[in-house]
Amino acid sequence: MTTIQTPNPLPFLDLRAEYQSLKHEIDAAVMRTLDSGWYILGREVAAFEAEFATYLAGDQPAATDEGRGGQSQIQTPNAKLECVGVNSGTDALQLALWACQVGPGDEVITVAHTAVATAAAIRLTGATPIFVDVDPITFTMDPTALEAAITQHTKAVIPVHLYGHPADMTSILELAYARGLRVIEDCAQAHGARYHGQPVGALGDLACFSFYPTKNLGARGDGGAVVGRDPALVDRVRRLREYGWTPQARYISQEEGMNSRLDELQAAILRVKLRYLDQWNARRRSIAARYSSRLPVSITRPVERPHCTHVYHLYVARIADRDGFRQRMQAGGVGTAIHYPAPIHQQPAYAQFAAGCRLPHTERLADEIVSLPMHPHLSEAQIEQVVEAAQLASTR
Ligand SMILES: Cc1ncc(COP(=O)(O)O)c(C=O)c1O
Repeated sequence: MTTIQTPNPLPFLDLRAEYQSLKHEIDAAVMRTLDSGWYILGREVAAFEAEFATYLAGDQPAATDEGRGGQSQIQTPNAKLECVGVNSGTDALQLALWACQVGPGDEVITVAHTAVATAAAIRLTGATPIFVDVDPITFTMDPTALEAAITQHTKAVIPVHLYGHPADMTSILELAYARGLRVIEDCAQAHGARYHGQPVGALGDLACFSFYPTKNLGARGDGGAVVGRDPALVDRVRRLREYGWTPQARYISQEEGMNSRLDELQAAILRVKLRYLDQWNARRRSIAARYSSRLPVSITRPVERPHCTHVYHLYVARIADRDGFRQRMQAGGVGTAIHYPAPIHQQPAYAQFAAGCRLPHTERLADEIVSLPMHPHLSEAQIEQVVEAAQLASTR
């Protein structure tokens, strides 16, 4: 009798596979750190901060478009990029906004099609989030919508490099800098993504990363970083992450800060994983290319704009009958997810900021998007399993 082999169910995510692939290196880093007897803001954090800043500084010259009164719009590659390790991506955004003197009475323009953390950080400073629509092709901030939303109260702009695709930074920086606004990149989903050859995170005034375990560069707990070239801003973030203390005067708060420190164990693990980031991003890109060449025509694939390197933190497709498709994928043994099911201005906590929001693309996306399994440790058989399940799920 012949038995038909059904493939094992494929979960949307598998973080164990990544750990297993580097188990020896990660375990050694963890043991070294435990043995060191120093667990907060020590050698591992300092080394990771230096290594991540070097990685983000990249090796390509930055674009040199003019903006902000003639200064280079994509900032000079000569100023040294610095990194400050903090406790999460949300804290990174809050600290970056604080460092830019954003507070009550100020408006910060961002998108509603993002993780709620982007808006949560703005609210934690007391400022008001102003939500603008996204470009329906890249799912990132529409610069025309940004321009229309700027008022005399606008203090900063937070473009989000969502799903791993860079936002249209040339237009955003030009608009923002012409009006004296700060630009804080939300890079939580875009470690290693490039814009005109330059890694994101080195483009605006400050940039914020999350090392939440699912990210392209993920810790094994919470973690985040703020990155920038302006020493005054970076030093301020460094002070604010630890109660406003300075290196010269610990325990004396020069200004009001918070406790948001990347810990030594997470930094040690991130140092191991940073060495694999480009290789893993390349693998994500090759899986995305496989999906895009094989998915049925009824599914709209994600797009990579010219001069952009997408790192596919998520492979987000669009499909008209999204919920039915997901159910059929689940029945076929393949997990999917939605990032995100409700735009921020339609969530109860943020409905107070919905007045005046016209976000047709954002609202439509929420009904159509679906994230397919995407991580660098998917096997060839699993990639095939996703494609075959999607083909079946699309033919009702
Ligand atoms: C776009 C975006 N911004 C900010 C964050 C916040 O990061 P964290 O979860 O580390 O606070 C996340 C993470 O979920 C994110 O995806």
